[in-house]
Amino acid sequence: MDVKTVCIIGGTGFVGRHVANRLVEQGYRVRVLTRRWYRGRDLLPLPRLQLIEADVHDERELVRHLGGCDAVINLAGILNERRGARGEDFRQVHVELPQRVLEAARRAGVPRYLHMGALGASPEAPSGYLRTKGEGEQRVLASDPQEVAVTSYRPSVIFGAGDHSLSRLAGLARLAPGILLLPSPAARLQPVYVGDVARALVAALEDFYSAGRAYELCGPRVYTLRELVAYVIELRGLRRRVVGLPAALSRLSARLLGALPGRPLTLDNYRSTEVPSCCQEDGLAELGIRATPLEAVAPAYLGREGRQSRYQEARQEAGR
Ligand SMILES: NC(=O)c1ccc[n+]([C@@H]2O[C@H](COP(=O)([O-])OP(=O)(O)OC[C@H]3O[C@@H](n4cnc5c(N)ncnc54)[C@H](OP(=O)(O)O)[C@@H]3O)[C@@H](O)[C@H]2O)c1
Repeated sequence: MDVKTVCIIGGTGFVGRHVANRLVEQGYRVRVLTRRWYRGRDLLPLPRLQLIEADVHDERELVRHLGGCDAVINLAGILNERRGARGEDFRQVHVELPQRVLEAARRAGVPRYLHMGALGASPEAPSGYLRTKGEGEQRVLASDPQEVAVTSYRPSVIFGAGDHSLSRLAGLARLAPGILLLPSPAARLQPVYVGDVARALVAALEDFYSAGRAYELCGPRVYTLRELVAYVIELRGLRRRVVGLPAALSRLSARLLGALPGRPLTLDNYRSTEVPSCCQEDGLAELGIRATPLEAVAPAYLGREGRQSRYQEARQEAGR
């Protein structure tokens, strides 16, 4: 398939920026659709990149902007709902939006759709995030490949400069007064590098065999959350004692933290940690990509000397 112009939804986010950069590097033209133009303004210096403000939930607008694209990549996702929502926000972004994008792609004659799911997502999962991610993925993978060929990705937690995960842990560790009370300390994760995720997406664009498939994306090593936190604390040069909370106290702290401004942890986030975020299959290897170890990348952006680290932490703390 000769892909030239790629449209991205959710292209202003952490993963989206890396994907947009990778596409441009590889010679593609990129069209980023965003609900708020200013969120992506720093992408504008990229050559061959167009930033378009659009209501991505409006199918007619989608059809118009997808016209002329050879592929669409949907990276839209939310980790938390608005206060008071009872599943409708997750449903809108993770189930209804992907269906709308798929339908718009079909109507606009876009033959390829890459979808971002999440590891552990399934309609039976314990959290609203994972349940709706699972349902959305099932629906788009059912697409007729003769009309729109869909490939989905199921990453574990994604790390890299500008991430939401390790930078947030670093921020929490910095704020903790000597002792860090850690919910879900035994949760298992297999962090994957954002650069590898971007490569996996771009690699599949021109690979027919990936149509109709879902790829699990993980790094080379499984960590417990406690191990990850200890590593981040070490990188930041902090002195903190990490005390793991048992399940009942983890739930309670998630409820309390979910009520704070910026919502550092919610009950739904806590429920997501009940599902191990570890791969059964090596999707990166299948796409010819060698997974980058966490230790090769994290010191540059989280380490004491990391120029971005304090800025990232401040943003995480402010919920931005
Ligand atoms: N980061 C991870 O560790 C991780 C792990 C597993 C899976 N994922 C999945 O990977 C994807 C990208 O993650 P990310 O870390 O890059 O997230 P992010 O930085 O929060 O960016 C998410 C993007 O989603 C769009 N979005 C947010 N709320 C939306 C809404 N209500 N309607 C439409 N679009 C909305 C935003 O686009 P605009 O504001 O520009 O419209 C934003 O650019 C998500 O689907 C996420 O669930 C991420």
